[in-house]
Amino acid sequence: MRYGHFDDHRREYVITRPDTPVPWINYLGTDGFFGIVSNTAGGYSWHRDARLRRLTRYRYNNVPSDTGGRYLYLRDDSTGEYWSPSWQPTRTALDSYECRHGMSYTTIDSAKDGILARTLYFVPPGETLEVWRLTLTNERAEPAEISVFSSVEFALWDAQDDATNYQRNYSTGEVEVENGVIYHKTEYRERRDHFAFFACSEPLAGFDTQREAFLGSYRGFDRPLAVERGHTSDSIAHGWSPHGAHHVRIALEPGATKEVIFLLGYWENPRDAKFAAPGIINKTLVKPVIERWLRPETVSAGFASLNAHWADLLDVLRVETPDDDTNRMVNIWNAYQCLVTFNMSRSVSSFETGVSRGMGFRDSCQDLLGSVQLAPKRGRQRILDLASTQFESGGAYHQYQPLTKTGNDAIGSGFNDDPLWLVLGVAAYLKETGDFSILDEVVPFSDSGAASMYGHLERSVRYTLDRIGPHGLPLIGRADWNDCLNLNCFSVTPGESFQTTQNIDGGVAESVFIAGLFTLAAKEFAAIAERCGKLDDADSYRASAEKMSAMVAEHGWDGEWFLRAYDHYGNPVGSARNAEGKIFVEPQGMCVMGGIGLNGGGNGSGSLAARMLTSVQERLATPHGIMLLQPAFTYYHVELGEISSYPPGYKENASVFCHTNPWLMIAAAMLGDGDTAFDYYRRINPSAREEISETHRCEPYVYAQMIAGRDAPTHGEAKNSWLTGTAAWNFVAITQWILGIRPELTGLRVEPVLPSSWPSYTATRQFRGARYEITVRRESGAATSYLVVDGQRVEGTLVPLMPAGETARVEVILPEG
Ligand code: GLC
Ligand code: GLC
Repeated sequence: MRYGHFDDHRREYVITRPDTPVPWINYLGTDGFFGIVSNTAGGYSWHRDARLRRLTRYRYNNVPSDTGGRYLYLRDDSTGEYWSPSWQPTRTALDSYECRHGMSYTTIDSAKDGILARTLYFVPPGETLEVWRLTLTNERAEPAEISVFSSVEFALWDAQDDATNYQRNYSTGEVEVENGVIYHKTEYRERRDHFAFFACSEPLAGFDTQREAFLGSYRGFDRPLAVERGHTSDSIAHGWSPHGAHHVRIALEPGATKEVIFLLGYWENPRDAKFAAPGIINKTLVKPVIERWLRPETVSAGFASLNAHWADLLDVLRVETPDDDTNRMVNIWNAYQCLVTFNMSRSVSSFETGVSRGMGFRDSCQDLLGSVQLAPKRGRQRILDLASTQFESGGAYHQYQPLTKTGNDAIGSGFNDDPLWLVLGVAAYLKETGDFSILDEVVPFSDSGAASMYGHLERSVRYTLDRIGPHGLPLIGRADWNDCLNLNCFSVTPGESFQTTQNIDGGVAESVFIAGLFTLAAKEFAAIAERCGKLDDADSYRASAEKMSAMVAEHGWDGEWFLRAYDHYGNPVGSARNAEGKIFVEPQGMCVMGGIGLNGGGNGSGSLAARMLTSVQERLATPHGIMLLQPAFTYYHVELGEISSYPPGYKENASVFCHTNPWLMIAAAMLGDGDTAFDYYRRINPSAREEISETHRCEPYVYAQMIAGRDAPTHGEAKNSWLTGTAAWNFVAITQWILGIRPELTGLRVEPVLPSSWPSYTATRQFRGARYEITVRRESGAATSYLVVDGQRVEGTLVPLMPAGETARVEVILPEG
């Protein structure tokens, strides 16, 4: 069953009923000012940092769910009847409803009793404000008198404090209202230089800025007193809960249409020009901005520029394959999700509250893999920011706060995989841009000293080599990619965080996954060193990679699959010898990506890689994707940590943890098995799962972090949509390995490994300033793959680099079958 449909032409998902299984959200904003918005106008906004600069309030885990948002109420003043044109929060039955989530904008259309309302929500590029454009149409035969009420609940900036510190916060709230503009200025009197504003294009019949005055006491957003009785009370908040509500009366002749614009924005004044009079905000700088954006023509132009921005970005790669689900994910939604994860890391979604997690080191490095082609300049800056949270040892803060760009230990440290992901992120940047100058940038360490970016990468790789365990494999530290495989924690205290509790580094627990990741990263780094003319470095890191591969083959192979780890006592984890957790997915894909176990008979058959793929197919694959491990842990294993704390089938304990699935797609593609690679791709492709939305439950246009595994009573149900490394890795798997359009240091490689049912596909790719028009087809009689570039046959699969500004026609000929 579906709750809507894709409109690929407009790059939108169209939701046709408001009561989706969970709120289906979208993101507003492209840089700096952001918001989340649900299909019923729930959500909130912030500037740069969702915790420290929160503009509006939202109640997670509330009943009813998705409470707090960008609400409008319409009231028929002739009857007193009122409703929400976005369905929530009044949940009045509507005659029609349609929400369209597009690229950084959302529209909600509805009709009730002949009054049509369309609201467009978006953030104009480069501005620190969001626009709500309401268009009302009277389709009745007689004139209509409609009151429009707007409503936002201001957060007192620090969202964590806002939700906990009531003894202070009920006394600090302050607002100003000038010319109908509501200014929220809590703490502006002291150390803040910023305030929020909420403006309306129409003359006001009134306003409210104290929540209780607007809602009435003991009432919720579903039944505001001001709306019920038809007027606000011009309340001015002193303490309690500063609110923003406008009241506008609109008379509409039959057939008439009226546009009303609301602006919700953030403004920072120069510290020495904060006040116009004691305590009064100096509005000299903000006023012209408000006036400009309240004009319909500015709004139309801003929306057009947002659409042009996305059209440009999505033009970087366009594919036309025989599979619609592939096309729309690659061309639209997966690319979009990659940029959203790049912006948000894991901080804000329906499942992440914006207060607990900043930018993750490992997460942000991986996000680069899927977004660097869309935002190379910002990717460059992100790399430098991440590297500056590294220590001289090469280790890194596990996360940093976006506002201050400084690392913090609040979410734990000592994850031994972290530094290696930086190598992959930088490699992706270099492959995409060819900008080797980044390696010469001098970047400070967060403890002391500084080094060139190249030096940072050297330390990243050395960090692993300095931490090798008894089997010659990397020590795992607190955890590796799998945050919940905590081999050194031994936590027995209820509620204690596995991420921050003690970590007994006994020098024994080793990770085969890090070994695979190291092999991959060391080879990437060697290739970079070689391009920089540092041939000794290149040789040395290749030798380290070879040695690590040998260690994995010797101590990291269980017989039918790669072992996961050795625990604190030196016992195997993820082995046929274990009763639970015999096989884990992560090392299977990663070791093969590192090139381990690929050589066997022809086409890799008989290789370790081929055998592990069979094991994965037999033991981990379900119709809903590949599970993280089997058999699931049925009781708490203190020596394994958080992984066994989850009920079977959820999260790291044997769900389909989607992030890992593309590693298997890539491994299958490396083995030349396009059918398996594409089959695994389709199993978790959200668009291909749209038909089973009642089972999947999350948005069908974006990946979710997990899908409940076979052991869960809710097998197939997705959770934690949007902010997940799944976005970047699936994008890499489908575009670079299955479709095979792969940036490399030396140029663009096109080496498809297609499902056997596909005769051909076409694509265009912008790469280092040139445009490549690619046609891939099979040819009976072709013995090997070759290219025809602008009519010239080229052996192999590497496309010669074109000068910037030029267009090349690339034909890729694949042998039949
Ligand atoms: C979460 C984390 C990510 C981690 C994964 C597996 O998605 O954000 O860093 O690798 O869980 O535990
Ligand atoms: C929890 C989650 C895991 C996440 C970690 C860090 O342990 O299970 O997915 O990565 O928290 O926040």
